[in-house]
Amino acid sequence: MTELELRTTAMAVGGEAVAREPSGRVVFVAGAAPGETVLVHLTDERRTFARGSVLQVVSASPDRVEPPCPHVAEGCGGCDWQHLALDAQARLRRELVADVLRRDGGVADPVVVAGPEVPAARVRTTVRGTVGADGRFAFRRRRSHEPVPVASCLVAHPLVDEVLAEGRFDDADEVTVRVGARTGERLVVVGPTAAGVVVPSDVTVVGADQLRAGHRAWIHEEAAGCTWRVSAGSFFQASPEGAEALVAAVGAAVARWAPDVERLVDLCCGVGLFAGTVGVGRSVVGVERSASAVADARHNLADLAHARLVKVALARWRPSPADVVVADPARSGLGADGVRSVAATGAGLCVLVSCDPASLGRDARLLSAAGYRHVGSSVLDLFGHTGQVEVVSAFAGEDGAAGGGAGG
Ligand SMILES: C[S@@+](CC[C@H](N)C(=O)[O-])C[C@H]1O[C@@H](n2cnc3c(N)ncnc32)[C@H](O)[C@@H]1O
Repeated sequence: MTELELRTTAMAVGGEAVAREPSGRVVFVAGAAPGETVLVHLTDERRTFARGSVLQVVSASPDRVEPPCPHVAEGCGGCDWQHLALDAQARLRRELVADVLRRDGGVADPVVVAGPEVPAARVRTTVRGTVGADGRFAFRRRRSHEPVPVASCLVAHPLVDEVLAEGRFDDADEVTVRVGARTGERLVVVGPTAAGVVVPSDVTVVGADQLRAGHRAWIHEEAAGCTWRVSAGSFFQASPEGAEALVAAVGAAVARWAPDVERLVDLCCGVGLFAGTVGVGRSVVGVERSASAVADARHNLADLAHARLVKVALARWRPSPADVVVADPARSGLGADGVRSVAATGAGLCVLVSCDPASLGRDARLLSAAGYRHVGSSVLDLFGHTGQVEVVSAFAGEDGAAGGGAGG
C-alpha cells in the first residue's frame, strides 16, 4: 500500500481535493479539504494521475468538521462531503463553478452567486441503493459495489428513512425508495423482482421486471404550488424544496433577462416542472424522450391552455421558434446537438440547468460559439453533504432581450 503526505490545494469536479506529488503527478484525494496536509493511501495509480483517500489529517483546514452521520466512518459512499462545514460546502461549490466557467467555458470574469437555500438534511425524497447480506437496504462503499447497510440516512426524508429502517429485501439487489414528502405517498422499486419484499403497509411495491412489462406505478408530490404526478421511471428533483429553489432560480433568470417573452421551450422537461410553473401564461413546448415522463407531463400540464409536449430525443427534435429556452439536460449536458437546437429556436435567452460542472463548462463554450454570452450563474445546494453541484446559468443571445451585468 502506497502512503504519502500531501498538501491539498483546491476541490476538483467530482468532489475530491487536488494535490500534487513531488513528481508533479496530480492526486485526487477523497475525504480531504483544500489547504490541508494529509497522509494519503493511494488506491488507484495511473501514469498521469492517481486517486487516494485520507488515512490521517496532519494539518486540518478550518472548514473541517466531524461527519454528522456515523455511516461515513463505516465506509458509506453516499455523502462525500460530510467532513466539510455546510457554509464551506456552499462556498466550494461556487468556487468550482466559477473555475470551470473560466477554464473550460472561456468566460473571463463569471458572475456566480448563491441560489435559494435548501436544507441539507432530511429532505431527499429518492434514495437508490443495494441490499446487504441481512436483506436490509444498503448504500455502496465509495468506488466499490460492496454494500454498507444503513438503518438511517442523514439526508433522507423521514418517510424514506422509515422504509430503510423497516424494509427487508432478501432476494433483491437494487432498491429505489421514492416518496412524496408533502402527500405522504410512498413507492419502492425493487430489482430484479419484488418477490418477498417486506415494507410498511402503505408503501406501493413494484418490481423492475413489472415496470419493463408495462406496469405503471407513481406517487404525487407537491411543490411550487402544483401537484406533480411522478411515475416510477420518471425523473423528479431530489426534494420538493430543491424543485422550488430551481423554479425560483429559473423564474428569476427569465424575469430579469427576458421578462416579457411569450414563447418558452422547456428542453428535457421531465414531468413538466418548468413548463408548469415558469411557463404559466406563456406558450410552452416541452421536449422529453422518456415515455413515462411525457405521460406524467401530459397529466400534470393538462390545465395549461398553451402547452404542447413532444416525445423525442433532443438530437432528433425539430426546433420550434421560441423567445426563451429553459434546458435541464442529463449529466452529459446539452452538447453540440443540444446547443445547435437552442440556437435554431432563435431564443434571445437560454437558461441552462446543469447538474455537472464539467458539462456546464463544455456547454458554456459551445453556447458562446453559438452567440450566447454568459450573464450569470446561481449555484444551488440541492445535494447537501455531497460534492454534487446544481447550477442555473443564464446565456443571452446577441440580439436577445438580456443586457450586461450580474446574473441571478
Ligand atoms: C435532469 S432531468 C430534468 C427534468 C425536469 N426539467 C425537472 O426539473 O424535473 C433531465 C430530463 O431529461 C431527459 N432526457 C435525458 N436525455 C434526453 C435526451 N437526449 N433527449 C430528451 N430528453 C432527455 C430525462 O428523461 C429527464 O427527464
